[in-house]
Amino acid sequence: MFNKILSQTLLKSFFLVILILFTLLTLPSNVFSQDSIRLNENKQIEQSCELTPSTVQGPYYKENSPFKQDLAKGTEGDKLVVSGKVMNFNCEPIKGAILDFWQADSQGEYDNVNFNLRGKVISDVNGNYTLKTIFPGSYSDGNLVRPSHIHVKAWIPENPGNPSLVTQLYFKGDPNMDQFVKEPLIINLNEKNGTKYANFDFVLEDYRVFGN
Ligand SMILES: [Fe+2]
Repeated sequence: MFNKILSQTLLKSFFLVILILFTLLTLPSNVFSQDSIRLNENKQIEQSCELTPSTVQGPYYKENSPFKQDLAKGTEGDKLVVSGKVMNFNCEPIKGAILDFWQADSQGEYDNVNFNLRGKVISDVNGNYTLKTIFPGSYSDGNLVRPSHIHVKAWIPENPGNPSLVTQLYFKGDPNMDQFVKEPLIINLNEKNGTKYANFDFVLEDYRVFGN
């Protein structure tokens, strides 16, 4: 009798061991790769780029501006070239991002009828863009004297949700800085052969990195 109970217990234990082994072998592999997931997350955090801050759009945006090589063709003013990269929050370059610029002329006037000093630029295969324009004039908005600035709306057409950044670029040393200015939006100017040059990198929301 005792032997029978013992053999039944051994048999049950044997099947239990087999069941445990089978369960372990058939678990999804990602159960064992939590560390690597954590590593990847840490890697993303280490590589993250700060999103370009937004600021007010203002009242002078016009939709459907054309793609242009030179925003200021034929418009008088100090020549200005702004260039840089468009990146995502992993600091990877983005091709095909649309940068829709608009600005005042050297007298601080916007063209609200046509598309002078308004136009879209697209980032190239390495995420690079170049904006050729003139230096914008300061203007008065009610009691507020605005610093020289270039407005921009930026987006990535294929990005899920298609979020757009609305912001403005400012220039270091401007005496009229106001409450809409944010420090990361202030750019340095260099001058060479009568043309001002500035560098600015955009960091946009891009949810394609999550594989959507
Ligand atoms: Fe403006």
